[in-house]
Amino acid sequence: MGKVEREVWATKIGLILAMSGNAIGLGNFLRFPGRVALYGGGAYLIPYFIAFFLLGIPLFWLEWAIGRYGGLRGAEWLGPMFYVITRRRLGRRGALIAAAIGGGLTLAVGLLLDAYYTNLLGWVAYWAAWSVSGKILTIKSMSEAKEVFINALANPVYNLVPWIFTLLVLALIVAPGVRRGIERAVKIMMPTLFILAVILLISGFLIGAPIKPEWNSIKGFIWMWTPRFDKLADPAAWLEGTGQIFFTLSLGIAGIIPTYAAYTRREEDLALSALTSATLNEVAEVVMGGSIAFTFAYAFGGPELIALVQLGKISPFGLAVVAYPAFFGSLGIPGAILASFWYILLWFAGVTSAIALVNVVAAIFKDFGLSRAVGSFITIILLLVFGLPITYEGMVTGGATSYLDFTDFVVGSVLLVVTCFFESVFGGWFIWGAEGLEEINRGALIRVPAWVWKYVISIIDPIFLLAMILWLPMTVRVEAIIESSPIGAQMAMLSSVFTALLFIIGAIIGYRVSAKKFPE
Ligand code: PHE
Repeated sequence: MGKVEREVWATKIGLILAMSGNAIGLGNFLRFPGRVALYGGGAYLIPYFIAFFLLGIPLFWLEWAIGRYGGLRGAEWLGPMFYVITRRRLGRRGALIAAAIGGGLTLAVGLLLDAYYTNLLGWVAYWAAWSVSGKILTIKSMSEAKEVFINALANPVYNLVPWIFTLLVLALIVAPGVRRGIERAVKIMMPTLFILAVILLISGFLIGAPIKPEWNSIKGFIWMWTPRFDKLADPAAWLEGTGQIFFTLSLGIAGIIPTYAAYTRREEDLALSALTSATLNEVAEVVMGGSIAFTFAYAFGGPELIALVQLGKISPFGLAVVAYPAFFGSLGIPGAILASFWYILLWFAGVTSAIALVNVVAAIFKDFGLSRAVGSFITIILLLVFGLPITYEGMVTGGATSYLDFTDFVVGSVLLVVTCFFESVFGGWFIWGAEGLEEINRGALIRVPAWVWKYVISIIDPIFLLAMILWLPMTVRVEAIIESSPIGAQMAMLSSVFTALLFIIGAIIGYRVSAKKFPE
């Protein structure tokens, strides 16, 4: 193997902050609390943690191993990485097909997921601006907040400016490179995020009952942890517990974890760093994300508000962008300060995740000889294009989100699992073999036991993942998403066409790039 020129993280803390920053995102602070409300409170943590240990940690290790193995051989994203891990067993032709699968999944998930994710971040930035400027104090009720939001949706300036601003920040972080861009940004944003989260966590407990005496915030915390075991009879609780683990650890999301892992040194510890990053993510999710959401939601709207989330009448994101502004606004100056902390926290959490996706797409462009900087800017233009239907739908329907919801279901739920399925098959014992285990354990401060690789990753996980792939499409009521918008059917169609198109283009790229990069 010849020496490959590549970027590496400057420091270990930089690596861990980048990886946990990638994992900690809107998923931790919005998606997780929403799922807890829907699926049994404390009881939800049973399927959630079973999935964490059985699938989460092992697949996280697998992704780190695939990443460095690829990185050492000049593969910086999942397409070519699939080539190098399967080449020995599957032969050239088979490995090129594996690369095509990896390429298709990377491009489709990478662009479509980041398109809607950054759009949501635009809304977070919009409210952050209202909070920091104190304008949020003019909002006193949920209906006023809703009106502001709908008016902003209908106005292309308010609609696009915060989103484009967010996209530009992403490109400016990714363009200078792993060390000078990403590592520097996460070293500022992640500690800030943790400080803000701790402040909000404490405030959540101390805020008491500012709106109604019986809505004490502590009761929200108790509500969250009270197990409702009957909910576990619903298979959806198990599926959603597992799905959340994928989303929150960024597993199967366009190979963003493998790509970050490609920038690690040959002898660097991976096993313990991965475990540390995953643990930080769980602290941010279960301890911070859950407590912050439930204490505030309860103090703001009591059991009634939580019941609305539980019934699916208001989405967790809706709660964050429509209910919270009203309540923060009605608390006076302290409310504006808390609101600023909350929206900045969300925005930092989201930005440190979204850059990982921009970075992956830029890595694809690098294989076409484009510089990282040029690739990053082309990527954000593409994100704008694939996210515009969200803006369009919001404007013409006054706030419907069927394009977003449908895309979130296909790429944010199903394709992640599909990607992990292929990772575990290609990266498991039967194809990649002992090299994978060697990769995760080289230089490691703890040892990943062989049985994890041989049995969990290679046998149990693929079976689990396959079952999920067959089962998932039956659980989501696609009609409900389509019917939620007057142009829902067209939007779902458009989203499907984009997914298929990007998958095909990505597959061709994965195939050809690998064929060229690794001539026999
Ligand atoms: N793990 C991220 C989260 O919890 C998911 C994600 C990663 C989304 C990267 C977009 C980009 O939000």
